[in-house]
Amino acid sequence: MGVITVFNQKGGVGKTTTTFNLAAALARAGRTPVAIDGDPQAHLSLALGVKDVPGSQSLYALFDQKTPLGMLTRDVEPGLKLVPASLDLSKIDSLYGSDPGITRRLSQAIAEAGWNETPPVLIDCSPMLGVLTLNALMAADRVLIPLAADFLSLQGVYRINAALDVLEKRTDRRFVRRVVVSRYDARRRLSFRIYQELKASFPGIVCDTRIHETVSLAESPMHAKDIFAFAPSSQGAADFRLLVQELESVGFL
Ligand SMILES: Nc1ncnc2c1ncn2[C@@H]1O[C@H](COP(=O)(O)OP(=O)(O)OP(=O)(O)O)[C@@H](O)[C@H]1O
Ligand SMILES: [Mg+2]
Repeated sequence: MGVITVFNQKGGVGKTTTTFNLAAALARAGRTPVAIDGDPQAHLSLALGVKDVPGSQSLYALFDQKTPLGMLTRDVEPGLKLVPASLDLSKIDSLYGSDPGITRRLSQAIAEAGWNETPPVLIDCSPMLGVLTLNALMAADRVLIPLAADFLSLQGVYRINAALDVLEKRTDRRFVRRVVVSRYDARRRLSFRIYQELKASFPGIVCDTRIHETVSLAESPMHAKDIFAFAPSSQGAADFRLLVQELESVGFL
């Protein structure tokens, strides 16, 4: 177990929903995860009930002041810690984009915090491949790619896989990858076809578990509750439990 970065350049595919509920599931299992919100939109922070965080207390301070991650971490649920985001993170590209060493700032900070092995770290990415997302990828041992079951998302996986290949070669590292269909609409035949095509095109890395499109998964962040607290007997909760089991069984979680 190490650092899992939840990444897809496509917006609205379920990155935050997946990070949020996986982190919650790990916390419930006593694994004391740390969730890092790497998106200026701060949706993960919001879903965890944390809002209007000043830059000096968010991930931004790591870049701006080199504040250690331990000082930016807060307890949000029993057993779950969060490094929150703030809107200031949207300035990172223009402020630090030309600094060649900047892409390793987060990985170094995670190592300094002693989080490389335990506890598990989950990083939620923004849909843009900028300085922040590169930091999240440079810190990752594992990359989880959530996607919707539609044609454009399928095409997107080819591009993501190619981008990760390039990054692996340039940085001499390996990313263990998993793809999960995080917005599976069982009412559409297309969903199953896309899922089958994904499995055929990317053998061995597509999760068997699909997260169904359900109302409770859409509603739970509004109540600042993970799916296990909000609707423990819902399909969404069952799907996330299965996903955790599957990812644990292959050593990804
Ligand atoms: N399985 C699901 N069922 C129902 N709604 C979902 C599901 N997954 C995600 N959603 C909803 O879809 C929207 C987008 O999801 P989410 O914010 O997790 O995506 P994202 O990839 O993090 O988006 P962004 O790229 O903007 O960061 C949210 O309103 C979320 O509640
Ligand atoms: Mg998001």
